[in-house]
Amino acid sequence: MRLTTRLRMFLRRHQCLRAAALASAAVFASTGCEGIQSTLAPGGTGAQRILDLFWVMLIGAALIWLVTIGIGVWVTRIRRAEYSPRTARALIIGGGAVFPVVVLTALLSYGLFLLPELRAPASADGVRLDVVGEQWWWRVHYNLPGGEAVVSANEVRLPAGSRTAIDLTTADVIHSFWVPSLGGKVDMMPGRTNEIVLEPTRPGIYRGVCAEYCGTSHALMAFSVVVMEPDAFTRWLEQEAAPAQAPSSALAERGRRGFTAQGCAGCHTIRGTTADGLIGPDLTHVGARLSLGAGVLDNDVEGFALWIAATDEVKPDVRMPSYHVLREDEIEAIAAYLEGLQ
Ligand code: CUA
Repeated sequence: MRLTTRLRMFLRRHQCLRAAALASAAVFASTGCEGIQSTLAPGGTGAQRILDLFWVMLIGAALIWLVTIGIGVWVTRIRRAEYSPRTARALIIGGGAVFPVVVLTALLSYGLFLLPELRAPASADGVRLDVVGEQWWWRVHYNLPGGEAVVSANEVRLPAGSRTAIDLTTADVIHSFWVPSLGGKVDMMPGRTNEIVLEPTRPGIYRGVCAEYCGTSHALMAFSVVVMEPDAFTRWLEQEAAPAQAPSSALAERGRRGFTAQGCAGCHTIRGTTADGLIGPDLTHVGARLSLGAGVLDNDVEGFALWIAATDEVKPDVRMPSYHVLREDEIEAIAAYLEGLQ
């Protein structure tokens, strides 16, 4: 299929998704309440505690609302009588001052009671992550206990059952790191490092988002969080630390040469090759990630081709230029090379 046709299909699909998102926001039903990006389907300790607090507040608010409306109905419909100034004063002081103080104090105490668990330190022997927000993607470093770092992008992998610390910073504007199914959100502020500690309990794939408006493509800045059994995580990290695979076909080899000739190496690193640019995402194992362009495209040859040829249309205002001047067969070759970086 021609690239222009593919691009048209992609843009049409995204318009449909936008319309669906608006519709689901209006009815508060559909995918918002379940699945991989929901605070109501926790897969970790932090999200579970926040959900507990949510239910306490929701049920408490519903009860208070019922009692308040009940009193209103009682005095206006059921027992319509003149009440003494003493009763009125008791109602105003009791309901307007004493009751809110008691309720808010109880709520504050419950919130403070939950805090130590949410703020508990990370497991001592675990990997420590740095995640840097960029316009509009995520740079991810796994800092191994030995001191080396493995660099990746737009995908965070975590071992189930341990508390992993993630240092959050930004390279440009304020972003906010949020994996609704695993924990609370923490802002990424220029000039400082904030920490979040996540304790996923259920292996699976979750979706993270940027929760702070950060420019044109703020809504196109998602990431995957893959929670793995500890052994599988260790094996994956070893694989991720290894240098890139050599091209396995003539087409991919042509793509590798095209990648170099077009200057892609000036912005991207592919470990084990001469590509050592630091501006864009590390591509050493890009073919093995779950999506492309920070959750925007499927990770396949077609996705790569679309991204290279129409970068700015897929993700408006992105820093990488579109390479629409390349011939389609040149783009397909580079796409095949990148997809092969498993
Ligand atoms: Cu980054 Cu919004």
